[in-house]
Amino acid sequence: MPPITLGIESSCDETGIALYQMGRGLLAHALHTQVAMHNEYGGVVPELASRDHIRRIIPLLRQIMHEADVSLDQINAVAYTQGPGLGGALLVGASVANALAYALGISAIGIHHLEGHLLSPLLSDPAPKFPFVALLVSGGHTQLMRVDGVGQYTLLGETVDDAAGEAFDKSAKLLGLGYPGGPALAMLAALGRPGLYKLPRPMLHSGDLNFSFSGLKTAVLTLVRQQPCCFPHPTPLPEGEVANESLRKFQITEQARADIACAVQEAIIDVLAHKARAALAQSGLSQLVVAGGVGANRQLRDRLDSDIGKRGGKVFYPDLEFCTDNGAMIAFAGALRLAQQGSKDYRFNVKPRWGLAEISP
Ligand code: KG4
Ligand code: ZN
Repeated sequence: MPPITLGIESSCDETGIALYQMGRGLLAHALHTQVAMHNEYGGVVPELASRDHIRRIIPLLRQIMHEADVSLDQINAVAYTQGPGLGGALLVGASVANALAYALGISAIGIHHLEGHLLSPLLSDPAPKFPFVALLVSGGHTQLMRVDGVGQYTLLGETVDDAAGEAFDKSAKLLGLGYPGGPALAMLAALGRPGLYKLPRPMLHSGDLNFSFSGLKTAVLTLVRQQPCCFPHPTPLPEGEVANESLRKFQITEQARADIACAVQEAIIDVLAHKARAALAQSGLSQLVVAGGVGANRQLRDRLDSDIGKRGGKVFYPDLEFCTDNGAMIAFAGALRLAQQGSKDYRFNVKPRWGLAEISP
């Protein structure tokens, strides 16, 4: 029987658990998202995230074992996200994984979260073949990597400041949208008029494969400020007084908010598509893999498919449910790494900051 790997993802605000078996594929997976809990604070509260992971991991594990009809003694390894991410949240998953592996006398495998993301399109059919270029676009990272095999990652370029997901989230906040802002902004953008506003595309022609998104929020704020206040029931402000931002964001029309959302999305996608194309050209490869939460964006997918398809290339994405954080990608990466990395030491640490290029094959 090929080995069964349990995967535990707890790096941020999603508890993901999955069972993967080589040859058979994904046996079961489950996800609990903390979005509703963090929403009222406008972003992730790390301590609340850790406590919620503690509550969720074991019930989700029981649920998927039941669904897959797998018992504890059939599991051969436990893979967990070792970093990067929130220290406390990572420690919850790492502790459960190592305790369970110790109790069962099986291997524990620490996985790099971004490795999980970039290998996740291999779970889909058709899957890309090594080598390929990976565009990793999440809430915390924006990177282009050359991937020659499992553990063989070369950094081609990355953001020098904000990540693409962060740019979506921060712009969404300025438009009065909830957390996480990416999906909400994408929905609002669908009602906007393309091309009405043109936001800056920093580093578009920098000649390298780096990105910069931090200027976008200032440009969005300027655009919001330029909109006439209109509703609800505008109370005329005393002469010389300027509406504060939270007041103003609800006082610009829905159409203006949608038009600005559309401009934000266009700017981010334009830069990502341009640099992804350049990375393929520079490395002489034809396959692009897109992974991470922003990879769920429909417009980004359409644009990449069209741009790269025209040049004879092909773009691969994980299934939509595996674009954002999940346990399946950790179970899968763990299964691929079991042979070379499984450990029965059970002493562990977590790495809240950890570069993908630092990990060994
Ligand atoms: O990979 P992920 O789930 O978590 C991290 O590892 O960061 O990515 C989350 C990010 C958030 O910034 C979220 O706003 C963004 O992905 N995101 C999207 C979409 N869905 C999620 N951004 C744009 N369009 C989407 N449809
Ligand atoms: Zn992620």
